[in-house]
Amino acid sequence: MTRLATAIGAFRLCNPVICGAGEPVMTEAGIRAALRAGAAGVIAKSVNEQPAAARQLDRADYVRLDANGMPTAGQGVSLFNRSGLIQRDAADWFAAVAAIDRDAARDGRFVAASIVYAGPEGAVAIAAQARQAGLRVFELNVGAPHAAEATPGAIAQETDPARLTGLVRQVRAATEGMQLWVKLTGLSSNLPALTLAARAGGADAVCMMGRFMALVPDLDTFEPVLGTSAAYGGGWALPIVCRFLALTRRAAGAGLPLLGTNGARSGGDVVRMALCGAGAVELLSVTMHEGFAGLTRIIEELETFLAGRELHFQDLVGRLADGLTGYGDQPECPGRWRDFVPPESLAGTDLPG
Ligand SMILES: Cc1cc2nc3c(=O)[nH]c(=O)nc-3n(C[C@H](O)[C@H](O)[C@H](O)COP(=O)(O)O)c2cc1C
Repeated sequence: MTRLATAIGAFRLCNPVICGAGEPVMTEAGIRAALRAGAAGVIAKSVNEQPAAARQLDRADYVRLDANGMPTAGQGVSLFNRSGLIQRDAADWFAAVAAIDRDAARDGRFVAASIVYAGPEGAVAIAAQARQAGLRVFELNVGAPHAAEATPGAIAQETDPARLTGLVRQVRAATEGMQLWVKLTGLSSNLPALTLAARAGGADAVCMMGRFMALVPDLDTFEPVLGTSAAYGGGWALPIVCRFLALTRRAAGAGLPLLGTNGARSGGDVVRMALCGAGAVELLSVTMHEGFAGLTRIIEELETFLAGRELHFQDLVGRLADGLTGYGDQPECPGRWRDFVPPESLAGTDLPG
């Protein structure tokens, strides 16, 4: 076993770096490039049954933002965009993806089918198509951030635990023998409960968390950058994702496999998500910032990190989450607040603590 080997339940991966769904893997060439770059797997660009969601791709737009949230021609620190879904027929797309998955399997890798949820009937029908195509992994994204802004009906978010269990149960029945991974929203604080709900419905693993929605006012035009609210992600999101991974691991236990997504930009970031409970990480923006070579860089950084410490990746999964304590468990440090206020605040005071 190499240092990088990991597993999502019984599903073994040669390393924890998965290329997440998005435009870079909306073509067969993109999927193959991600695999060549070293990704253990690829979540192929999502489909759904709604023509409006595919049409939305023609209104998609993208911009990089700097640390002040302003558009930049450089790399920036955030990607801000509205997206749409693949415009190919699902059966045709899944047949193409399954052919690459068969090749990938020979090399210990995988390519997954993915749906951005719009409604239960469509989800079940599309899941059945993925199974019929011979795919091994199906990712059900019930939390795409664009749901609120998209044409009504094109995309839906499921944030009700009871309804999520019912939905996953139906999709589970259509994906017998496959890995079923459920990808949750970043726009709810209910992720531990939603994870338990997905598990109760039969999910093999849960991926968290989707990107956030944002509105970026332009100071020259006084209009929104890109014209609308849009999805917003960057390395800054990682600590927020880490917290939800750790809370979820504590709620669900080590037996429920978790995948991290949203904000990983380096090998160290993959380790941080692992410490909080992620057995693997789905990365996408890095490929839009620096090409698929970004995945190779991250895998190399991870290998160097682990080799330097004589560690195996799997030893790290959940290590921080399992020891996480609360505020009341911290040592007392009276007066610490004084180090963080302007001197005027302390003038003439003799406050205790
Ligand atoms: C342009 C773009 C398109 C995306 N399309 C999809 C999609 O079709 N389905 C999906 O489940 N996630 C989609 N995502 C989410 C990514 O797979 C990933 O979870 C998210 O970008 C957070 O990871 P990152 O910080 O590494 O980019 C998309 C993200 C971006 C930036």
